[in-house]
Amino acid sequence: MNYQWYPGHMTKAVRAMKEQLKLIDLVIEIIDARIPVSSRNPDLNEMAKGKYMLVVLNKSDLADPGKTAAVKKKLNDEGRIVLETDARNKASVKNVKNAALSACAEKIERDRKRGIVGRPIRAMVVGIPNVGKSTFINSIVGRSSAKTGNKPGVTKGNQWISTGAGLELLDTPGILWPKFEDQTVGRNIALIGSMNDEITEPAELALELADILKTAYPDLLKERYFKGEEDVSQMAPAEIMNSIAVSRGCIVAGGETDIVKASRLFIDDFRSGRLGRISLE
Ligand code: G4P
Repeated sequence: MNYQWYPGHMTKAVRAMKEQLKLIDLVIEIIDARIPVSSRNPDLNEMAKGKYMLVVLNKSDLADPGKTAAVKKKLNDEGRIVLETDARNKASVKNVKNAALSACAEKIERDRKRGIVGRPIRAMVVGIPNVGKSTFINSIVGRSSAKTGNKPGVTKGNQWISTGAGLELLDTPGILWPKFEDQTVGRNIALIGSMNDEITEPAELALELADILKTAYPDLLKERYFKGEEDVSQMAPAEIMNSIAVSRGCIVAGGETDIVKASRLFIDDFRSGRLGRISLE
């Protein structure tokens, strides 16, 4: 399968973001803790040159905590300010305002020396579709201000939202980039549900997921779908999918397994965290 999704509305959104970057001090880059490499927009560093940056590892409640800690350390070592969040949880985002202000400390001090005090920091919240931007903003602001939805690309139009406490947020639509140089990146984005599901094949995606998990998390696979002494790590992905279909009763008339149904169920178990805390990178 060739993974590519860059619809016209994203081209427009990127153009608008480039214009709005002139107005902001800080970029809050929300990435998905389950795919912390693939969910980073490779064009962002260049686009946001000269702006302060704050990296948010969101959906960390769904990710493998050990891997998230390692990613956080690596980004910290590169000099990035990094927060781990579950954006649905207000307590988890309570440090964002302070982190945003400390990311911009140099500017605040520069302003102060010029007699400018109390000017709010203006931050643009960016990220791939479905990464949790709206949920994140809503949790910080404490009300339902940004529209959320479960379809990638549902956040429309850009809007400024005041959080009080010297921070204003600019909501932006989820964007990807024109070409995935490495198709693994596209696959990972599709697996977490940040690519339009209508353009991907569930059965193929599920085979890819089974192939990753049989090596990286065989015990989680086994715990959820297998009863016996099977060595999941030695099974072919197609064999794993067949067993999942049988164990979940995905059978059509005539006794054949319904692989598409089993594939959807398997992918959904992964995305929702029912399979356990998993990071693909
Ligand atoms: P977006 O603006 O970046 O497109 O994302 P949005 O906030 O709409 O979030 C997409 C989905 O991800 C939502 O679920 C949201 O609840 C969920 N979500 C956001 N942040 C987190 C997080 O840190 N952890 C977990 N586990 N989920 C998160 P949904 O499928 O629309 O359902 P619902 O929760 O709204 O019912």
